[in-house]
Amino acid sequence: MRIEFSLNGARVSVDVPADSTLLTVLRDHLNLTGTKEGCGVGECGACSVLLDGRLVNACLVLAAQAGGRQVTTIEGIRGPEGGPNDLQQAFIDYGAVQCGYCTPGMVLAGEALLAAHSRPTRTEIRQAIAGNLCRCTGYQQIVEAIQATAIQRREKGSHV
Ligand code: FES
Ligand code: FES
Repeated sequence: MRIEFSLNGARVSVDVPADSTLLTVLRDHLNLTGTKEGCGVGECGACSVLLDGRLVNACLVLAAQAGGRQVTTIEGIRGPEGGPNDLQQAFIDYGAVQCGYCTPGMVLAGEALLAAHSRPTRTEIRQAIAGNLCRCTGYQQIVEAIQATAIQRREKGSHV
């Protein structure tokens, strides 16, 4: 079946089997491998993307469900110059990236939170990333990176 949707701001059209997941389409048909496959059953968050701004597990979303909607993957998150944006840079600065497998999903979980709450508490940050598993960092650095970005964005009055 043919599916059309907005992917990181650009219109895409793909022909895929009707039972394809959004994760499969992103990785295997559109070659966007920043979105990771971990468990494949909705438990790890490695495949997190934004669907109309809402955090979803792409392994649990049928590609057909994305039809006509806006999908944002980690490839769509970047700074004004094309490099890391402020949240991605904070992940680097705070040592929130080790093996990196969880990182795309963590960044998207952080972006979804910061779009909704400019002043999240540490508890709210932990809740926002509760569906994203990280085997490496112990989460503390990730929470700090998201909190530092929230503060920075408030100071700048910007949500870039
Ligand atoms: S791969 Fe989708 S939640 Fe684990
Ligand atoms: S940095 Fe390795 S799983 Fe999070």
